[in-house]
Amino acid sequence: MKATAIAPANIAFIKYWGKADDVLRLPLNSSLSMNLSGAQTVTTVEFSPDYKHDRIDMTGETMSDKERERVSSHLDRIRMKAGTKLSARVVTKNNFVKGTGIASSASGFAALTVAGCAALGLNLSEKELTILARLGSGSACRSIPDGFVEWVKGYSSDSSFAYSLYPASYWDLRDILVVVQKGQKKVSSTEGMEGLRTSPLWQARIAGMENKIARVKDALEKKDIRLLGETIEEETLNMHTVARSQNPPLLYWTPKTEEIMTVVRKWRSKGLVVYCTIDAGPNVHLICEARDEQEVTKKAKSLTDVWSVGVNKPARGAHVVGDDLF
Ligand code: DP6
Repeated sequence: MKATAIAPANIAFIKYWGKADDVLRLPLNSSLSMNLSGAQTVTTVEFSPDYKHDRIDMTGETMSDKERERVSSHLDRIRMKAGTKLSARVVTKNNFVKGTGIASSASGFAALTVAGCAALGLNLSEKELTILARLGSGSACRSIPDGFVEWVKGYSSDSSFAYSLYPASYWDLRDILVVVQKGQKKVSSTEGMEGLRTSPLWQARIAGMENKIARVKDALEKKDIRLLGETIEEETLNMHTVARSQNPPLLYWTPKTEEIMTVVRKWRSKGLVVYCTIDAGPNVHLICEARDEQEVTKKAKSLTDVWSVGVNKPARGAHVVGDDLF
């Protein structure tokens, strides 16, 4: 009754910002993302009658009681499916810093779902796994299928799931992640999006969604980096403008974030085909094609006062692996 899974974080091209149902984690809009090869979580789950209660640890990081409770509640969902009351030991390890705008909850809950189900011998389809992962953290459902993924918003728990639009090998894109600030962000995505409806702009955001989703899908189909890039920058500005206009306002960017956005425009005006996208944090994801990886990485590394620059390729989704963490 022990299994280990690995799951990638993902970068949202079309972002999930706001829920139609808080408990079921039904989103207000569908979203699109790419799994990231360089930001992964490995999780081992073991259920045993020897454990009197759940014990949850994250290697190299501290966890709050609230975070542990969220993991335990997710284990409850998995236990319910398997019809067991056994407690579990969970050890999880990220190869990136938690809570910096890299979606650690996405890779975390995807890995937990796949490892937990495998440990109890539950034979769920990929679609069922995405629905289960979604209940832990919305964006986690997008870390289960391979490569480029759509999370269909749906209208009920069973109709809100994720699936792979294209495998990781489909388009050799790069996400050059520029980490401008280390450490946990002050307002989590969960809390942040709770205030969505305080923004006078939220309905306009949702009204424009279908068109924007169609453009990103079109760009993916045609492998059109310019159309993709222009649309994801528009989407980033839209999400952050809404977040900034919430009450209380959410200012996820630092001056460095804006400086990078400006310099990326300058690089582009000189012919380098690279675009920005930013989740709920200050770090900037530079999206380009493989042929521009070296140039973009070199330029990103020449920026002053940035914490790190990492290269991500499109990655496969969550899956079981052989090496247990304990
Ligand atoms: C800005 O999936 O972390 O990264 O469902 O409350 O756990 P919860 O939210 P979460 O939100 C991610 C928000 C985002 C955009 C995105 O990844 O789509």
